[in-house]
Amino acid sequence: MDAAAQRVQALREQIAQHSHLYYVLDDPRISDFDFDELLRELQQLEAQYPQLLTPQSPTQRVGATPSAAFATVRHPAPMLSLDNALVAADVEDFDRRVRERLGDVDAVHYVAEPKLDGLAVSIIYRDGQLLRAATRGDGEQGEDITANIRTLRCIPLSLSGAAPALLEARGEVYMPVAGFARLNEEQLRAGLKPFVNPRNAAAGSLRQLDPRITATRPLEMCFYALGALEGGPQLTTHSAALAALRGWGLRTSPWARQVLGLQGCLDYFATLQQQRPQLPYQIDGVVYKVDELALQERLGFVARAPRWAIAHKFPAEEAQTTVLAVDFQVGRTGALTPVARLEPVLVGGATVSNATLHNMDEIARKDIRVGDAVIVRRAGDVIPEVVRALPEHRPESAQVVVMPGLCPVCASPVERSEGQAVARCTGALRCRAQRHEAVRHYASRRALNIEGLGDAIIAQLIDADLLHSPADLYQLDSAVLASLPRMGEKSAQNLCAAIAVSKATTLPRFLYALGIAEVGEATAGALARQFGSLDLISTATAAQIEQTPDVGPVVAAHVRQFFDDPLNVQIVARLREAGVHWSEGLAAEGASLPLLGQTYVLTGTLPGLSRDEAKEMLEAAGAKVSGSVSKRTHAVVAGAEAGTKLAKAQELGITVLDEAGLRQLLGIAPAGA
Ligand code: IVH
Repeated sequence: MDAAAQRVQALREQIAQHSHLYYVLDDPRISDFDFDELLRELQQLEAQYPQLLTPQSPTQRVGATPSAAFATVRHPAPMLSLDNALVAADVEDFDRRVRERLGDVDAVHYVAEPKLDGLAVSIIYRDGQLLRAATRGDGEQGEDITANIRTLRCIPLSLSGAAPALLEARGEVYMPVAGFARLNEEQLRAGLKPFVNPRNAAAGSLRQLDPRITATRPLEMCFYALGALEGGPQLTTHSAALAALRGWGLRTSPWARQVLGLQGCLDYFATLQQQRPQLPYQIDGVVYKVDELALQERLGFVARAPRWAIAHKFPAEEAQTTVLAVDFQVGRTGALTPVARLEPVLVGGATVSNATLHNMDEIARKDIRVGDAVIVRRAGDVIPEVVRALPEHRPESAQVVVMPGLCPVCASPVERSEGQAVARCTGALRCRAQRHEAVRHYASRRALNIEGLGDAIIAQLIDADLLHSPADLYQLDSAVLASLPRMGEKSAQNLCAAIAVSKATTLPRFLYALGIAEVGEATAGALARQFGSLDLISTATAAQIEQTPDVGPVVAAHVRQFFDDPLNVQIVARLREAGVHWSEGLAAEGASLPLLGQTYVLTGTLPGLSRDEAKEMLEAAGAKVSGSVSKRTHAVVAGAEAGTKLAKAQELGITVLDEAGLRQLLGIAPAGA
């Protein structure tokens, strides 16, 4: 037993040391195989002697149980954001303000660091042990993501060296571009939606309730600031703070440099801008921080940002290439969007081969022709766009772009109503592209929220001639679903269940899900409140529809047009026959808004409704949803782990409802029905 304890200790030290070499210093000394061997041996010993197991063991990074929700935690000190400098003159102003405030000093020492494009995270170590990790949240309070952060191999569970009594270290969690590309390939293969950019992927990965999923995501963290420090060394500069973080085994940017004055900042910026395409992660600028902590203190803060630091953003990247062709993509409402197919070109570290041209007016305004040399731009996470054509390089063969008269997908006539920028395919659900997008929209999270119905599955169902409209979804059974390529029996059953669950919805969601042109969530909510029932909306005249707050003639015409199409009417009827339902009485005329004038407060986690859903339903019934309990609160809806708000309600003698009570109040089906 003693021998085992000693071996366990030795193994943990070796693993910690090699993890540090590999993940933090990028300097591995043993092979992956040998590393895995150490881990395996440790795992075996811990299985044999469970009394030797501790939460800080490197085998215990991934907790086994998903949580129901993230707890809210308060940061020891607010997590601030930074002001932006977009051009050199902004940096010049910043530097002048700093020097003036410090009493017209000469050149100031700054530390310049890459501005990583990820999300800010705070980690607290008590007596050297990782205690808690939290997202930035609103700066004051964030979400407790400790279980997820523990799965990142580059973050030590115990600090090395002489650990302080308390350390709050702050930094950025991000996903390197290579890992991002791999993850998206996997997403596509699994029929899931790819992430838009590495930052979204990092955020999505960190906000998983199941840490086992986070553990599979290629996340890294780089530390850039101290939040709180107790019982540690006396630090006088930011450079020294970064060195101290490194000494405790935390990763800091290898690019951080002390620079002198404005010129030092601008030189650093130019150098890093050149390096940017070679960096393995995305950065969106440089952060300059006054190095001397005493000076930082003298400068202080304005609103939410320090006066001693600024983020100097890189301009959007541009490159020259050639337009090979212009294709037209058909969207959910039939809108034809011209897309330029480009000679592939590297812009800001990514290859761009397509760029949106928005609409025909835009093409005419910029006079872009097929064959033209063009400048394309990619700014951060936005879709690449063509900035301008270079007519001086225009070949004789260049061709003017014309809108096709027939839909490129279904050959229905294309129409462009007067005064509108958008041309639309008139095929509606007869058009395969519109059908696909209509089903995708119907199933999307804020519509009927059918989990597991990804693009690949929709495409397969359309190919198999099983899906002509969203109504066909309710005719599918798990045997049919299981017969699709790459679909397992379990996934088929889950999808089937998700489709069945979607039948219970609300009128605003259903209206939104129909995908009527120009009818977003807000408009759907307004229409539901105004009319109270689908039948009244579908039979209203355009003039009546226009009576709805914030609804103009264009939207009214789209709504009328939608319900004038017999195909749509038939689909709606089939959806209702299949059992899709909501409570019409809720917002019906007469009893139009049963909860009007009442204020509700939501707290804790409800078993079967997200906070968004509960809020939406209450608001659809006319209630106001507030964040704090007072004498005027009508009732508090409390779920699991409700905290002070519930206590306050009880103290004030305010009605407390659970989810079942809420459902009853709103006249909607009990959970699971
Ligand atoms: S310092 C008071 N340093 O940028 C100083 N922030 O726009 C607070 N960021 O929320 C932050 N790299 O998420 C700092 N080297 C760096 C950074 C950095 C990225 C992020 C951070 C912050 C945001 C502010």
